[in-house]
Amino acid sequence: MANLDRVTVFRIGGDDYTRADLMKMELVCLRALFRERVHHTIEVEIYPILLGRKKMPSNFGLQTELILDVWKARGFADDGEDFQWGKKYMELAAKMRAGEKVEIEEALPTPFTDEEMAVVCKLFWERRSVRDWVPDKPVPDAMIEQILEAGRAAPTGCNLDIVRFIVIKDTKEAKMVWSDIPTHMDQCALIIICYDTRVYETVGHHKLVPHNMLFDAAAAADHMCLMAHALGLGAVWLSCTEKTANTFKKKYGLPEYINQALHIAVGWTAIGSIKSLRMPLSEMMITR
Ligand SMILES: Cc1cc2nc3c(=O)[nH]c(=O)nc-3n(C[C@H](O)[C@H](O)[C@H](O)COP(=O)(O)O)c2cc1C
Repeated sequence: MANLDRVTVFRIGGDDYTRADLMKMELVCLRALFRERVHHTIEVEIYPILLGRKKMPSNFGLQTELILDVWKARGFADDGEDFQWGKKYMELAAKMRAGEKVEIEEALPTPFTDEEMAVVCKLFWERRSVRDWVPDKPVPDAMIEQILEAGRAAPTGCNLDIVRFIVIKDTKEAKMVWSDIPTHMDQCALIIICYDTRVYETVGHHKLVPHNMLFDAAAAADHMCLMAHALGLGAVWLSCTEKTANTFKKKYGLPEYINQALHIAVGWTAIGSIKSLRMPLSEMMITR
């Protein structure tokens, strides 16, 4: 076990967190800080070190050791997927601090077969926004779950996992966030994509990259719409004004630190629609 007496955890724009600070930190923030520190202090560093492009710092992985130690001291379970991932990196870092040689047995990516590529292209180019749904045909919960899982798989800035979901099937509740789409809201489910601002304040990212919070929500939304399409459902992003978001937040009783970013509607498509096409790639390119 590493000596953690003098270890502190780096914070952007403030004093480092001490063990005492971590003992008081909100659960959700402490866990996010664990993922962020594994990401920035081990995951991003270890490969250049193994490739001989960087020197290993003497405190390699120690910040995460301290956070995990506090987490366990506070009696919380450390068997979640994110902890399992973090611990793999911590084990490697510990071995490297001890001067042991480590090898990572992960396969390199290989190109998709033609068949696999055809599925990917089908998904990207056949997905479309759907705004007209079959009435009285709810989306099964199992499909909603698959869509949410696709959102969970989306990338997240600094691995902070700040995105949160609310599923609304009730018409009255849906009305609180429904945007300017002229369709009947009782024919689809709404997935409200929110983010937890406490996490960014903990790591100091709200000062540096606050926009990443919205990007995280957008990445999740895109993954979810693709999954809805693959399931044979129709989905659409719905824009949300600040006024609507605030009304929803208040009426739905969301805490002050949960912000709504956008929402998507998902249902069974009532009518085939002509897929929108894009401007040519050459016109999307900015060149000097
Ligand atoms: C950020 C964003 C906001 C959007 N907001 C709305 C919206 O409020 N209402 C709507 O009907 N469609 C909305 N859409 C869907 C777009 O209209 C749609 O993606 C675009 O017309 C291209 O069509 P496609 O999705 O069928 O390829 C939104 C899409 C994005 C990416």
